[in-house]
Amino acid sequence: MKVNWPERLWVNSPLRYLIQQRETQFLKRLRDLEPGTRCLEIGCGHGAGARIILRTFQPERLDGLDVDPAMIRLAIKRQPHWTVDRLLFFVGDAQQLPYADGSMDAVFNFGIIHHLENWEQGISEICRVLKRGGGFYFEEIYPALYANAITRRLLDHPTENRFHGPEYRAALQKEGLRLLPGYKETRFAILGVAVKE
Ligand SMILES: C[S@@+](CC[C@H](N)C(=O)[O-])C[C@H]1O[C@@H](n2cnc3c(N)ncnc32)[C@H](O)[C@@H]1O
Repeated sequence: MKVNWPERLWVNSPLRYLIQQRETQFLKRLRDLEPGTRCLEIGCGHGAGARIILRTFQPERLDGLDVDPAMIRLAIKRQPHWTVDRLLFFVGDAQQLPYADGSMDAVFNFGIIHHLENWEQGISEICRVLKRGGGFYFEEIYPALYANAITRRLLDHPTENRFHGPEYRAALQKEGLRLLPGYKETRFAILGVAVKE
């Protein structure tokens, strides 16, 4: 589901960028990537996360996919020259990834799984496209943050079949994604890396 205008303001803000930068450094400390990797960011929005991933992990190739054509237009418009041969943005659905099985070394998710109507299908697709030993790097948020008494009036999210920490972690385990020790979790959010066994 696309974001509405208040959430668009938030995800396109400089503060969001700073938070993503800090989170990506944390994820790198949990598990770095070898040089020459092929990576995907789902729900890349206006492309800030993709630039941070490129600088931090230095993959050979990164694809950024988002369901919202307006976000992808913005990402392409803001794409710096130094990234053009390594970074490709396109419109697509994280619930139906247009990749072969086992084609990615890493998949990044900055807060989009809770936007999916069928979030379990999203996790299943991530696992399918990852190589064995590949990493799922994520920041994900729970209803206590995005659907509390205040935020549910401001923001637009699917309301059926929602997940909290136990369901999210169980879905990773069910798909054979092993959560690495050292992840951070509160009742609002989780930040961590899971590896495809
Ligand atoms: C909360 S925003 C996060 C944007 C960016 N990743 C960030 O952290 O700032 C969620 C993003 O997921 C995208 N999105 C929602 N449903 C999607 C889907 N089914 N497939 C791909 N992207 C989706 C939205 O268009 C939006 O850009």
